[in-house]
Amino acid sequence: MKKITKAVIPAAGLGTRMLPISKSVPKEMLPIVDRPAISFLVEEAAAAGVTDVLIITGRGKDTIENYFDFNVEYEKKLTESGKYAEIEEMRRICSMANVYFLRQKETKGLGHAVLTAKNFIADEPFYILYGDDVILSETPVCTQLAKAYEKYGKPCCGVKPVPWELVYKYCSLKAESNGDNTYHVTDMIEKPKPEQAYSNLSILGRVLLTSDIFDILEKTEPGAGGEIQLTDAMRVLATNGGMTAVDFEGERFDFGSKLGFLTANVKSAVNHPEIGEDFKKFLIEFADSIK
Ligand code: UTP
Repeated sequence: MKKITKAVIPAAGLGTRMLPISKSVPKEMLPIVDRPAISFLVEEAAAAGVTDVLIITGRGKDTIENYFDFNVEYEKKLTESGKYAEIEEMRRICSMANVYFLRQKETKGLGHAVLTAKNFIADEPFYILYGDDVILSETPVCTQLAKAYEKYGKPCCGVKPVPWELVYKYCSLKAESNGDNTYHVTDMIEKPKPEQAYSNLSILGRVLLTSDIFDILEKTEPGAGGEIQLTDAMRVLATNGGMTAVDFEGERFDFGSKLGFLTANVKSAVNHPEIGEDFKKFLIEFADSIK
């Protein structure tokens, strides 16, 4: 099967759940310790063999573009103090993949954002990494999806069981186990009411699609929340031939929510090579003090 070399990261959303900071700092640029969320996504895609990443941005998201560019002023300063390893690391971040940017001129939903990638993708299978979903895993989730694509030959989505009482915030899949960590998906619904939910399996942040999604997206009407929903377009795939859901290995952090952002930071900080040990000590003492 042909290697997948393209990925799309929709990052144009307004991030209303992260107001007021999202007014001027894109949620995709919120850090895990010292790196923005979006850096982890490009890193994941590159580790899965992606060479070309398209980031869908919007007004006020210019800092994302700056992050993937060289910065001669910092490099000059670091050269003066002999910090060559830092320069190398900053350059590595800019060179993980060819990163392209395109604006979604109106925030009409995730499906609409993906549709803007039509010409970039042309006729190839590609990954979508939702810009506010960081997943820390042993094997890149994109690679896990590619393996399932190779095995079952169908478009794939990364899923996890979510608490039943929260399914209404996500989507719900009609799915039967394939006997491994994957499911055959025959239907799905975005933000279901309790009586509409098929299961508590929800798509979380990673999808592998083929270019036929674009024709479907062009015909997709606004759905939940008045937005053009990617789930509604994928439903067409699921009901016509099926999709494969992969219960992926890895921990997912929702950077669209305050709790997700904070949890990612605390969990990552304890393993951070520079501050990990000190942070762990602080955390233990602090946890004791609030018992
Ligand atoms: P979300 O629905 O979580 O993002 O979309 P949002 O609309 O920014 O969230 P809230 O509800 O206002 O807080 C998942 C991903 O799709 C992108 C977002 O940037 C996020 O990374 N997205 C969403 C777009 O690129 N365009 C859109 O029109 C909507």
